[in-house]
Amino acid sequence: MKSIIILFLINLIVVIVKCREQSVLTWMGLERTNETINSDLEQILSLTQILDSVAFERFNLGANSTLIVNNFTDVQYPLQTAGLKTLPMVSTCCPFGRPEVIEYARQLINNPQPFIDSAIQHAIDEGFDGWNIDIEPVGGDERDSIGYANFIDSFAKQLHQYNKTLTVCAATWTPFWNLSLLAQTSVDKIYTMSTYAGTFQGFQSALQFAIQSIPLNKLAVGVMTVDENNQPFSTEELTQRFQLIINNNIKSLGIWSSPIPLNWLPFLKQFVSS
Ligand SMILES: *[C@@H]1O[C@H](CO)[C@@H](O)[C@H](O)[C@H]1NC(C)=O
Ligand SMILES: *[C@@H]1O[C@H](CO)[C@@H](O)[C@H](O)[C@H]1NC(C)=O
Ligand SMILES: *[C@@H]1O[C@H](CO)[C@@H](O)[C@H](O)[C@H]1NC(C)=O
Ligand SMILES: *[C@@H]1O[C@H](CO)[C@@H](O)[C@H](O)[C@H]1NC(C)=O
Ligand SMILES: *[C@@H]1O[C@H](CO)[C@@H](O)[C@H](O)[C@H]1NC(C)=O
Repeated sequence: MKSIIILFLINLIVVIVKCREQSVLTWMGLERTNETINSDLEQILSLTQILDSVAFERFNLGANSTLIVNNFTDVQYPLQTAGLKTLPMVSTCCPFGRPEVIEYARQLINNPQPFIDSAIQHAIDEGFDGWNIDIEPVGGDERDSIGYANFIDSFAKQLHQYNKTLTVCAATWTPFWNLSLLAQTSVDKIYTMSTYAGTFQGFQSALQFAIQSIPLNKLAVGVMTVDENNQPFSTEELTQRFQLIINNNIKSLGIWSSPIPLNWLPFLKQFVSS
């Protein structure tokens, strides 16, 4: 009888853990952002009660629908072993604003399959749980936003056939992204970057727009660890922002980027149990 009760309790805990609605992802910039990779990893591995997913710089979008391996430190194994969901990034850095990025993006939109096939193969070979696409061109237009949403939809549907997830980063500072169109695709989550805003007012209005454009089950709010002057947020500022996040029933957060400042931890704990 006792062991049946214990078994029941273990199952209940498993169900509760699995059913947690809230998700917190952290990004690792690795060599690209000059991280101290070992200590960031150590922090992430110590926070598995709070974090469930990690996205990390590993790939870039190349010309002609290609995926480029950046050869930064490979963090897949320690993250996966700790039970974290691994979502490698596809970036278009560096520097930001390179004119070829919109060309690469249009080549991808017009001929997505080579990229998608390569991404699926990497996910299978390296054991990723999915992808985090962060294509940030300058000079796109509304026509591109339709093509980009079609690409994201097709990529998501194909990844789902392999039980892999697709997440995409988007903002409002270029018409290349249309949040409403992206929200109508099969993508699993949209991480908003407009919500990186340094001022509270900027954060508030970006969050409002994101909520109007993206259903809560797909909306992941991007938050940055520093303000517009590269200064960490005070506990008062964090109180204000997390209050808004929790009041609006936000279910997913993405933190740009590790390491996570220590004064965030009580707020994140509160968020995951909200
Ligand atoms: C990276 O960090 C090292 C050591 O702290 C420093 O010397 C270097 O200037 C940094 N590079 C960049 C690009 O920030
Ligand atoms: C992309 O394809 C075009 C047309 O086939 C070719 O001219 C160009 O060299 C290719 N670019 C790269 C970087 O492979
Ligand atoms: C990464 O390493 C591979 C194998 O050495 C090389 O072919 C590739 O060009 C490298 N990628 C970058 C972005 O340097
Ligand atoms: C995906 O998951 C489902 C349900 O667990 C399973 O039946 C299916 O075989 C999996 N497909 C692949 C490609 O792993
Ligand atoms: C996004 O697309 C919808 C539907 O085509 C359109 O009505 C809306 O104006 C677009 N939003 C932006 C910000 O361009």
